[in-house]
Amino acid sequence: CGIVGYVGPRPATRILVDGLTRLEYRGYDSAGLAVAHRKALRTTRAVGRVDDLRAAVGDEDAAGRTGIAHTRWATHGEPSERNAHPHTDASDRIAVVHNGILENADELRAKLVADGVVLRSDTDTEVLPHLIARALDGGASSLEDAVREALRGVEGTYGLVVLDARRPEELVVARNGSPIVLGLGDGEMFVASDVAALVRHTRQVIFLADGEIATLTAAGYEGSRLGPPTTVDVDDEDYELGGHPDFLSKEIHEQPAALRRVLAGRLDDRFATARLDGLRLDPRELRGIRRVTFLGCGSALYAGQMGAGLVEELARIPADAEQASEFRYRNPLVDPTTLYVAVSQSGETIDTLAAVEELQRKGGRVVGVVNVIGSAIARRCGAGMFLHAGPEVSVASTKAFSSMATSFALLALLLGRVRDLSPAHGARLVEGLRRLPDAVESALASSDEVEAVARRYADARSMFYLGRVRGAAVAREGAQKLKEISYVHAEAYAAAELKHGPLALVDASMPCVVVVPDDELVAKNVSTIEQIRARGGPVIAVTNADLPEGLADAVLRVPRLEPELDPILLGVPLQLLAYHCAAVLGRDIDKPRNLAKSVTVE
Ligand code: G6P
Repeated sequence: CGIVGYVGPRPATRILVDGLTRLEYRGYDSAGLAVAHRKALRTTRAVGRVDDLRAAVGDEDAAGRTGIAHTRWATHGEPSERNAHPHTDASDRIAVVHNGILENADELRAKLVADGVVLRSDTDTEVLPHLIARALDGGASSLEDAVREALRGVEGTYGLVVLDARRPEELVVARNGSPIVLGLGDGEMFVASDVAALVRHTRQVIFLADGEIATLTAAGYEGSRLGPPTTVDVDDEDYELGGHPDFLSKEIHEQPAALRRVLAGRLDDRFATARLDGLRLDPRELRGIRRVTFLGCGSALYAGQMGAGLVEELARIPADAEQASEFRYRNPLVDPTTLYVAVSQSGETIDTLAAVEELQRKGGRVVGVVNVIGSAIARRCGAGMFLHAGPEVSVASTKAFSSMATSFALLALLLGRVRDLSPAHGARLVEGLRRLPDAVESALASSDEVEAVARRYADARSMFYLGRVRGAAVAREGAQKLKEISYVHAEAYAAAELKHGPLALVDASMPCVVVVPDDELVAKNVSTIEQIRARGGPVIAVTNADLPEGLADAVLRVPRLEPELDPILLGVPLQLLAYHCAAVLGRDIDKPRNLAKSVTVE
C-alpha cells in the first residue's frame, strides 16, 4: 500500500494523485484521497488503479491545500470503494490513511458498534478516525494528542497520516512498523510511505522511527524524537520509463550499471579480496564465523540460496538460506558463531524484519543486505551492505536480485580470503567480478533470441526449471520469475530429483528449462536433457558450455566468466524468458495480479 500527504500553499489534489502514481507499484486495487477545504473534507475513492482515481477526481482543481491519499492492496475487506482509504469518522471530520494491520480491530469495531457507531467499511483502519474524533470530543488539546490517545488503545502495525477538516493547516503522522517518510519542502511539507513519492519535490527527508508521532505544517514539522534530515540519493528520473516499454524491461537492462555500483569501491586488488566495511566485522570476527545463514522471502530468498552456494564454495564453511517467515516462527536455535544475513530489496518485508528482531532478541549477529537506504531492515540491522541498485519499481525483482547475488559473491570472497582461499584464486575472482557487468551486458544482447524462444513456448500450461549445484538456485529464481509475471505455472527441481517423481509429468506439453553451467557437471546435465527428450519433453538449455549439436530444442547462451560467478550470468536469460513470455501473453508486466512489491503486512 502507499501513502501520500501534503500541506502547503499549492492545491493538494494534483500533488497527491501524482504521488500515488509513483507508489502504485506497492499495491493497487483501490485508491482514494481526502482534501480539506472550507473546514470540510472532500473525499474521493475509486476501485482499480490510480488512474481511475484521477478520472474520479476529474479536472476539478480542488482548492484544498492540505490532503492525504492512499493506494491500497487489500488485506482486511475485499477491494471496493467503501473499503478504500481514506476512512473517516461519523461526522466526516477526521480522515485517516493507514498502512499496516491493527490486530485488535475486531474488538475495537465491536466496541464502537455497541456504542451506536455505524461503521461503513470492513477495514481495521476505520476504527482510527472514530477513536481520534472521540479523543478530540473528549477534550484532547491538539490533533497530535488525540492521535496519541487513540493509538494507545490500538495493537498492531501502522504508518498513518491524519487530517482534521477543522485544522486544515496541519497533518499528524505516526509510525509503528510501517514506513513513514517526511519530505521537507520550502514552505510546504510532504509525507509518504516511500521516497518515490517525494523525490519530485524534495530530496531532504526524515525517516520516522517506530513509536514516533509528528505534526506537519507548511512551515515545518514538530515531533519529540525525530532524527535529523537526510538527503536521499534518488532522482525523479529513476521512476520514469526513459524510453522502455515498462519498468521491468528498464530494470533488466539496467543490470550492468547496477552491478557496477554494487561493486564500486568494494574490490581490493592488493589483497585479492573484497572490502565490505559496512559489515563492521574485523578479520578476527570474520574468522570466528562458523556458518552463514541467509534469510529472505521470494527472490531475496533465492538470491540467498545463491549466496549460500558461494559461501560454501569459496569460504568452505556451512551456509544455508531460509525463508524468513519460517525462521521467525519455528523458534530457531540462534547460534552466536553464525553470521545471519537478512536479504531484502525494499528493506520493509515484514517477515524478514521480524526474523531480524527475533535474532537480535536472542543475541544473533545479523547484517542486512538491502537496497533501500533508510528502510526498516537496514536501520534495524545497523550493519551490512547496501546494494545501490537504484529504485526497483517493477514488482518482479531483477536488478536487485542480481545485485544481491553479486554482493554475496563479495561476501564469500571476503570470508574465503580470511580462510583457505589462495591469493591467486582471490585475484581471479576479483578480476571476474570486475568483468561481470560487461558479461551481463552481453548476456542481455540475446534478448531477441530469447523472445523467439518465448514465442514458441509461452502457451505452455506449465514448465519445469532444472539445475544442479551452481544451477539450482538459478532455476528456482527462473521459475519464480515466470510464475510472477506470465502466470504460467513453473516448478523448479534439482535436476537429479526429476526421476524421483516429476518425470511422470514430462511429455510434449511440458517444456523444461535446464540450466547448464560450464562446470564438472555438464555430463550429468546432458543426461538429464536426454531423459527429458526421451519422454518427448521440449528442452530449453541455458548455458555457457559447449553442448552437443541438436541436444536441446533451444539454446540460450551466456558468456564464460569465472565458474563461481556463472549463477549470476545464467539468471539473465531466464529473466528475459519470463519477460518475453509475459509480453507474448499480454500480461501487465510491471504489476502482476495479486502481487505487491513489498509485503509489509502478514
Ligand atoms: C514480494 C515481491 C517479491 C519479492 C519479495 C521480497 O513478495 O513480490 O518480488 O522478492 O516480496 O521482497 P524484498 O523487498 O524483501 O526483497
